[in-house]
Amino acid sequence: MAIKIGRNDPCWCGSGRKYKACHAAFDEKIAQFAAQGHKVPTREIIKTPEQIAKIKESAKINIAVLDYIEEHIHAGMNTAEIDKIVYDMTTKMGGIPAPLNYQGYPYSVCTSVNEQVCHGFPSEKVILKEGDIINVDCSTILDGYFSDSSRMFCIGEVSPEKKRLVEVVKECVELGFKEVRPWGFLGDMGQAVHDHAYANGYTVVREIGGHGVGLEFHEDPWVGYHTKRGTDMLLVPGMIFTIEPMVNMGGVEIFVDEENDWEVYTADGKPSAQWEIMVLVTEDGAEVLCW
Ligand code: MF3
Ligand code: CO
Repeated sequence: MAIKIGRNDPCWCGSGRKYKACHAAFDEKIAQFAAQGHKVPTREIIKTPEQIAKIKESAKINIAVLDYIEEHIHAGMNTAEIDKIVYDMTTKMGGIPAPLNYQGYPYSVCTSVNEQVCHGFPSEKVILKEGDIINVDCSTILDGYFSDSSRMFCIGEVSPEKKRLVEVVKECVELGFKEVRPWGFLGDMGQAVHDHAYANGYTVVREIGGHGVGLEFHEDPWVGYHTKRGTDMLLVPGMIFTIEPMVNMGGVEIFVDEENDWEVYTADGKPSAQWEIMVLVTEDGAEVLCW
């Protein structure tokens, strides 16, 4: 149950100002969108400036780890080595890898190669070879604050088809990000991602989406890419969520490995690619917190 704040009480955002002079008009504006039938964010997923500062510190570790992997990933390396780098670097910087033990996930990072869509298990047996494409998905907890992003890497010379897939998915995320603004809608972003992928002959995975993030690993809203402009959740300053479409070169169908209930593959065995950025909705636009 939400406790109603009096107009002269201190604002919920922690500014120390009276509610009526701080977020009262903001809350009223959200209530008006809700009254028009729009899905709107609850206060729990609107971050305060103090929380945003902490989340940005967490994001710095995520960026540093992915930068390091970008410099050192190579053919002949196995993905268990990537797991070790992520664990060692994250903990050395004072963080905890968020995937480790998350709902039973047994590693510090997800490494998804070629037709693996996501949640690939790092393994000594998965040795990167020339022509592979791999998604490395890193997430950090620092002082209880979460960050989450992933990048694609091409190992040596990659076929033009795979290279184009990787590039187009990056464009999808960039085009989606351009649609993120306060008092816009999540569907503005979703449609931009979707349309660019399908215009290039690709499909976008439906079952797995992005998510709110910051105080928890996965918060509301769920972020899909099969939504339309002007629909889905209203975006307001202080919201933080990921844009992380999984785009398939072939069909949209996927399956989960029954042995471990984690690793996801394309049904047709064709490659899949994903980039993930974590974005903050600001007063006048949006900011990428990690990538
Ligand atoms: N990092 C993934 C995401 O983007 C989450 C993976 S869950 C895990 O949301 F347990 F596999 F880490
Ligand atoms: Co994510």
